[in-house]
Amino acid sequence: MASFPPLQNDRLLRVARGETTDRTPVWMMRQAGRYLPEYQEVRAEHDFFEVVETPELAAEVTLQPVDRLPVDGAIIFSDIMTVPQAMGLEVTMVSGQGPTFPHPLETPDDLERLVEPDVGDALGHVFEALTVTRQKLEGRVPLIGFSGAPWTLMAYMVEGGGSKSYRHARAWLHRHPEAAKDLLRRTTDVVVDYLIGQVEAGAQMLQVFDSWAGLHGPDTFRAFCYPFLDEVASRVKSACPDVPLVVFAKNAHYALDALADTDYDVISLDWSMDPGAARDTVGDRAVLQGNLDPCALYAPPDALRRRVQHMLAGFGPHHHIANLGHGMLPDHDPEHARVFVETVHEQSEQMRTV
Ligand code: CP3
Repeated sequence: MASFPPLQNDRLLRVARGETTDRTPVWMMRQAGRYLPEYQEVRAEHDFFEVVETPELAAEVTLQPVDRLPVDGAIIFSDIMTVPQAMGLEVTMVSGQGPTFPHPLETPDDLERLVEPDVGDALGHVFEALTVTRQKLEGRVPLIGFSGAPWTLMAYMVEGGGSKSYRHARAWLHRHPEAAKDLLRRTTDVVVDYLIGQVEAGAQMLQVFDSWAGLHGPDTFRAFCYPFLDEVASRVKSACPDVPLVVFAKNAHYALDALADTDYDVISLDWSMDPGAARDTVGDRAVLQGNLDPCALYAPPDALRRRVQHMLAGFGPHHHIANLGHGMLPDHDPEHARVFVETVHEQSEQMRTV
């Protein structure tokens, strides 16, 4: 493994490992993105996947929010769609529409089109981006790697893009349950290798995004979502025992108790969940991350500060990583992101002194 500059601010990693710190660490999902004019400038010159696939550009964009805001972590600029691409599916980023698959998986026969990638070959550009970014961070904050979760990736691969109900993907669970499990198993293998490769390349914490976990009911969650999430954590944890793992299973309220029994160290909550109730369910089995409604960033600064204060009070001073309940939105004001981050720091320090 390459050698990297020593870490100066390790609050994020310490809290993720269950330690206490002098203040609550904070970062934002999608903190590198369209709300930043400096990101828009890069995108004016380069296609989305060109940025993802060019390590120097990906590193530049990853550092933009870290240069601008006092966040406690950097998340590598990439996309969850890198895994379906590595498995042989074409994905384009269509403006206003998001990721689009010209040839999605329509029937189980289409699984034959998938390849079993060597992640070093297929996703080496992401590993290189992590290594370059870790060098350029100069130890300011830890670098977070990520992957989509098997179910969320399946949802996109079958649906062919974003959708309101994901009915094609959900129909597969009932029409073709064995083929669905085959696809989920194959995706799990790639996700595991991909996450372990990210650690070898320089990632210091990993987040698994199951953004569409909330499409399930408890039964299909147990059969098609949870086992694969669980397996990703146990296999990655046994290969990289010191690297904190975070899971974000958006809208899967019924899953909280079960997720606390996995090898994920941190459970990221969306904004619909009550911090105190989540803490009661999870107890000391996991650290919690989240969960300010991204739309609270549209509030005037004073109202925003009150929302942040309320959120921090709900989680309490320890075993909490502050974040949004989902990603930054394109028309957010970067100065409101600053209010969010600075308020977390100020208020969480104060909470420890009273
Ligand atoms: O700053 C960071 O958080 C790192 C970068 C990051 C991106 N995508 C960049 C991006 C991360 C962690 C992701 C993960 C991702 N991508 C998820 C999981 C998180 C979530 O939001 O639930 C999902 C579901 C995707 C798939 C995806 N990629 C969608 C649905 C879209 C369209 C979003 C939209 O609002 O149009 C993307 C595109 C994308 N990924 C953008 C960025 C900055 C915007 C594309 C652009 O610049 O034109």
